[in-house]
Amino acid sequence: MNHLDPVRHVRGESQYVDDIPTQRGTLYAAVFESPLAHGKLLSLDFSAALEQPGVVRILTAADIPGENQIGGIVPDEPLLAEGHVHFRGQPVALVLAESEHQAQAALAFIKVEIEPRPILTDPRVAAAQGELIVPPRTFRLGDSAAAWSQCAHVFEGVAESGGQEHLYIETQGAYAYPTEMGGVRIISSTQGPTAVQRHTAHVLGIGMHQIEVDVTRLGGGFGGKEDQATTWGALAALGAYVVRRPVKLVLDRMADMRMTGKRHPYSSDFRIGLDADLRIVAYEVTFYQNAGAAADLSPAVLERTLFHATNTYFIPNVTATAYSCRTNLPPNTAFRGFGGPQGMFVMESAIVKAAEALGVPASTIQRRNLLRENDLFSYRQPAEMCNAELSWDTADRIYDLEQSRAAIAAFNAGNEQFKKGLSVMPICFGISFTKTPMNQARALVHIYTDGTVGVSTGAVEMGQGVNTKIAQVAARTLGISPNRIKVESTNTTRVANTSPSAASATADLNGKATQMACEVLRERLLQHACNEYTLNYEGLEITNEQVLAAGVPADTIWEKLVSSAYWKRVNLTENAHYATPDLHFDPTTNQGYPFAYHVYGTAYTTVTVDCLRGTYAFDAVQIVHDFGESMNPAIDQGQIEGGAVQGIGWMTLEELIYNEEGRLLTNSLNSYKIPDLYSVPRHMPVHFLDTPGHPRAILRSKAVGEPPLMYGIGAYFAVRDAIRAFRPGHEIDFSAPITPEKVLLNLYPSAVPA
Ligand code: MTE
Ligand code: MOS
Repeated sequence: MNHLDPVRHVRGESQYVDDIPTQRGTLYAAVFESPLAHGKLLSLDFSAALEQPGVVRILTAADIPGENQIGGIVPDEPLLAEGHVHFRGQPVALVLAESEHQAQAALAFIKVEIEPRPILTDPRVAAAQGELIVPPRTFRLGDSAAAWSQCAHVFEGVAESGGQEHLYIETQGAYAYPTEMGGVRIISSTQGPTAVQRHTAHVLGIGMHQIEVDVTRLGGGFGGKEDQATTWGALAALGAYVVRRPVKLVLDRMADMRMTGKRHPYSSDFRIGLDADLRIVAYEVTFYQNAGAAADLSPAVLERTLFHATNTYFIPNVTATAYSCRTNLPPNTAFRGFGGPQGMFVMESAIVKAAEALGVPASTIQRRNLLRENDLFSYRQPAEMCNAELSWDTADRIYDLEQSRAAIAAFNAGNEQFKKGLSVMPICFGISFTKTPMNQARALVHIYTDGTVGVSTGAVEMGQGVNTKIAQVAARTLGISPNRIKVESTNTTRVANTSPSAASATADLNGKATQMACEVLRERLLQHACNEYTLNYEGLEITNEQVLAAGVPADTIWEKLVSSAYWKRVNLTENAHYATPDLHFDPTTNQGYPFAYHVYGTAYTTVTVDCLRGTYAFDAVQIVHDFGESMNPAIDQGQIEGGAVQGIGWMTLEELIYNEEGRLLTNSLNSYKIPDLYSVPRHMPVHFLDTPGHPRAILRSKAVGEPPLMYGIGAYFAVRDAIRAFRPGHEIDFSAPITPEKVLLNLYPSAVPA
C-alpha cells in the first residue's frame, strides 16, 4: 500500500498550520526575543511599539493568568522570560497585530534593558561550575575498575559530536481560537498534542478539558516538535485567551533556527580495554551533554545515551556516566535517536582508536564483540531474538567486506588526488519509551452506516507514514479495503492523554490499540452475522469485504453487514487501550527491562575524498536492516534512506556554531548546510534481513523511525579512513562533523598554523 499523503503533498493540497484559511478577526503574533544570552531583565518599554499601525496588544509574563511554566521534566522553563533571560532568542513578549507584517515590524520598537551576566556555552565548563540540570547518572555492569588489569591493551581519548538543526520543512507554529465557555482550541504543529494541552491549561490556569488540540499532520518533526512545539501553541493560546480573538503564530525559518533547541552536542572521555584476542573487556565513558538553558527533554535524552553507550557490543565491564550541563544556549531537545547516536559515536571512536593503534581493521574488533543471544546490556535486559551477528554476516555475504576493502586498496594505490575510505557501522536500538508509563496508547474506531470507517489515535503523522500503517492495520483486521478507512486528525478530545509520537514507537503503540479495537468490532459484526443468517460462529470470517462461512461466501458484503448491524442496534464504535506488556525499569538502580525489543542492522559506507580540495562524495551506503516482517516495505525503505542521510548530514556537513556570546552564527541555510541531492550517496541498497519479526511489534513489523540515523555515523569513519589512506598514521581528532574544511586541515596538517 502506498503512503497516503505524497500525492496531496506534491500537489500542494496538504494543509499545514500556515495553510489553514484564516478566520475573520484573526490576529498575528510575533515574538520579541532576548537579544542577550544571559542577564537580568531590568526594564521593557512598549510605548513606541504600541503606537505602531495595527498593533493591538503586547503580552508579557505579567499577562499569564496561570503559572508561567512549561518545563515538562523539570519545572525550570518560563513561557515568557520573567526577571532573567537565559538564552538568546528566549521569548520575552508577544506582539499581537492585525497583520503578520505589522506584528513583525513592531518588534523593532520594543526597548529592553538587560544587565549582562556571564555566559556559559561549554558543557565541561558548566559541569565544573556545578551547573547541572539533574544529578549525574551512571550505568554499570561488572567492575570496570577491577578489569583494567586483565586487559592486554588500554586506550583513552576524547570524542566530540556537534548539535543538529531539525530543519523540518514546516517551521514551528500554532493557530488558536477562543471557544465558548472560556476555553481555547489550538491547531498545532506538534508531535505531542497532550503536552501542548497540558502546559497551555497550566499557563492559562484552566482545566485540560477547556483546551482542545488538533493536529492534521506535520511537515516534519524529527524530535524538534516533541516538546518544543508547546511554546508556540501556548503563546498563541495565551493571545487568544486574553484578547478573545483567534491568534496565529508561525515562525519564519531564521526565527525558528535562532529560538529553538537542537540535537545536544556532547563532549566525552572514553577508556577502552581489550584482551589479547581483541575482546573488549572494559569500557568507561563520561558524557558531557550540552543541555542549554532549561531541562526540556535533556534528562531523558541523557538516559538514552547511557542505554546505547555500548551500541551493539557485549562488554562485560562497563561504567558509563553522564552529566547534563546547563549552558546559555536554547534548550536542546529530542532529535531522531534521542541521545543514542551521541553515545554510539563515542563507542565507535573508542574501537577505531584501538584498531588504529593496534594496526588491525576496526571491523575485526567490531565483529568479535557483537552481542549474542542472551548477552546482557548494561541495564541488565538480555539481548533476545538478537540479530547483531546475523545482520553483520548478511552484509558480509552480500556486500563482501574483504572484496570491498581490496577494491578500495587497489583504487588508492593507483590514485594520488582521490582516496577512498570504508567503514562498517553496526547498530542496535531499543524500542519503547524508556519511561515505562509512556508506553500506552488508545484508538477510537467508528464504523459508519455506509461501511466507511474513521480511526482516531494518538499518533501524529509527520511524514513517517504512521497514518498509512494504521489504515493498513484497520483494513487488515476488519477484512476490508483501506479505501474505506480514514485516519482522522490527532485530537485531544477524541483520544486523550496521549504520549508524544516519538521513540519510534508510534505505529507499535497506536497500531496495537487500533488492532484491538478493530478485533472487537469484527467479532461483534460476526456475532451479528451468526444471528442474522443463522450461521456458525466457528470458521466465520470477513475477507475482501465479504462474510465467509467456512470458506463459502454467505452472500453478505461488508456494507450490508454493517447496515443490518446498525438496524439491530449493534454498537459500531469501539475504543481500545494498549499498554506494552513486560516492561519495567528502575531509574534508581538503572536496571530492568525497558525495551519491547531491539532493532539491529549494519551499513557499509564508501566515500571518495578529493585530497586537493578536502571535499568528498559518498559512493555508497550499503545497508542490511532488521525490519522484522515489514508491513510496508516502501515506507520503511524511505525511513532508512531518509534516516541514514540525516545521520550523514549530522556527521559530515551540518555544523552548528554558536559564538562565546551564545549567538547562533549558522543561522540560515546560507551558513548551515544539510545534505542535498548532490551529497546523498550515489548508491544506497537496502537489504531486508530475513527474520520472523517480533511479537511486540505491530504485525511483527519492527519500528523503523530512528535506528537508521545511526548508519550515518559510518560516514564520519569512512571519511577518516580515506584521509588516512592519503596520510598514513596521521592522528585525527574524534570530532564530528568532519566538514570539508576539517578534512583539508587533516590532509595537510603541517600547513595548519600552530
Ligand atoms: N520521518 C519523517 N518523514 N519525518 C519525521 O519528522 N521523525 C523521526 C522518524 N522519522 C520523522 C521521520 C523521529 S525522531 C521519530 S521518533 C519517528 O519518525 C516517529 O515516528 P514513528 O514512531 O511512527 O516511527
Ligand atoms: Mo523522535 S527524537 O523520538 O521524536
